Amino acid sequence: MTSDRTSEPNSPAEEDPAAWFTIMAKMDETWSQLVGQQVELEQKNSALEEAHELIASVFDSMSDLLIACDTTLRIVRCNRAAQETLSEGVPLVGQPLAILIAPDSPISIETLSRRLTDRQRLEDQGITLKTPSGAQPFSVNSAILRDSHHRVSGMVLAARPLGELRRAYDELDRAHKSLQQAQTQLIHAEKMASLGRLVAGVAHELNNPISFVYGNALTLRRFTRRIETYLSALHAGQTPEQLAAIRREQNIDAVLDELDGSLAGITEGAERVRDIVADLRRFSSERRAHDAIFDLGQIARKAVNWVLSTCGREIATTLDIAPELKVEGHSGQLQQVIMNLVQNAVDALDTTPDPHLRITAHRQGQQAILEVADNGPGFTEDIAHRIFDPFFTTKPVGKGTGLGLAICYRTVHEHGGTLQAWSRPGQGTCLTVTLPVRARGEDAP
Ligand SMILES: Nc1ncnc2c1ncn2[C@@H]1O[C@H](COP(=O)(O)OP(=O)(O)OP(=O)(O)O)[C@@H](O)[C@H]1O
Ligand SMILES: [Mg+2]
Repeated sequence: MTSDRTSEPNSPAEEDPAAWFTIMAKMDETWSQLVGQQVELEQKNSALEEAHELIASVFDSMSDLLIACDTTLRIVRCNRAAQETLSEGVPLVGQPLAILIAPDSPISIETLSRRLTDRQRLEDQGITLKTPSGAQPFSVNSAILRDSHHRVSGMVLAARPLGELRRAYDELDRAHKSLQQAQTQLIHAEKMASLGRLVAGVAHELNNPISFVYGNALTLRRFTRRIETYLSALHAGQTPEQLAAIRREQNIDAVLDELDGSLAGITEGAERVRDIVADLRRFSSERRAHDAIFDLGQIARKAVNWVLSTCGREIATTLDIAPELKVEGHSGQLQQVIMNLVQNAVDALDTTPDPHLRITAHRQGQQAILEVADNGPGFTEDIAHRIFDPFFTTKPVGKGTGLGLAICYRTVHEHGGTLQAWSRPGQGTCLTVTLPVRARGEDAP
């Protein structure tokens, strides 16, 4: 029996089993390369996705409207703020940018197109965009978009609602105005309070001498009636005995004795009123009196002498005054200042068993510094805050008006200087006047 087998060509593996192993090894290698590339690709893909998500969330979290367009100014992408502000539900992507721009917008679609062609940016330009609630002004910035080959691929716009800026500005403006108003009210309240204090002080101060004048005037009226009675009797030709009786009855001799005292009382009261008015006038006067250059030490000596010679008690006084301390201004007013300070010190030393007064004046740089110090009772911090207030006084009625230091303060400041007080209860007080020195001095006329 013959077999009729068709003979098939042999495969290379059959012919050469070593070649078969080579092919298998190559396939293995290719396969593992493919797996490696796949893993790498997946890693890159997930990194890309992460970056994409980050950009998208940054994009969407911005409150500015971001719109990216292609070269035909068709919207290819926009952030959530743009979508929600400019459209009610209809997606903006795919729409022409032109449909968003209001007809009266300062920046038109043609301008944007020109900027794109010329590769130019926009910076803080006004644009009016259509929104579901009507046209609204925005401030817009733009930049040219490029692809990975650096070719122009479109334009991105960043728009900020001007209304929001304006609202913020308006709120700031309102807050500023209400602060200003509060400040004005405070100043007004403070002025009214000081005016109230001033009026109360003036009333209190004037009350005393006026009641003095009034009381003496009433006495004089009573005296007048008695004298009239006596004179009428005299003119009626009454006998000397009758006249003597009337004179006794009307107390005419005592009246004549007291007449002078009453008149002096009235004069004194009137003078006190005049002084208070003069003090007030000086206090309220803005006018700077005639200026001259003079020696501060000289007027300090004079002021101390005047006060001490009338104070009626022995006070151990040290004067330490540098020569040639030239200052400029009104010597009379500054002398008054020093007299006020010394008078205050003398008043304060009234009950001090071993009273000491120390007046020093020296130069420090361009400043003349004058100090009036005493070892009196001093005062508390609470009083220190008020001593320069007009009409602040701790002295009994009729002894002090409380205008002394207020006038001193104003006068020294008008002369370009400062007046400061240092004091501690039980440790005395020191008032310091600082005035600018005038280097070249001519004496006061
Ligand atoms: N050297 C001092 N020692 C202690 N207290 C002082 C001294 N100088 C001023 N004071 C306090 O400051 C207050 C105000 O002084 P200021 O000179 O303004 O008014 P005053 O002396 O009371 O009255 P005047 O208007 O007659 O001067 C005084 O009443 C006193 O309480
Ligand atoms: Mg005084």
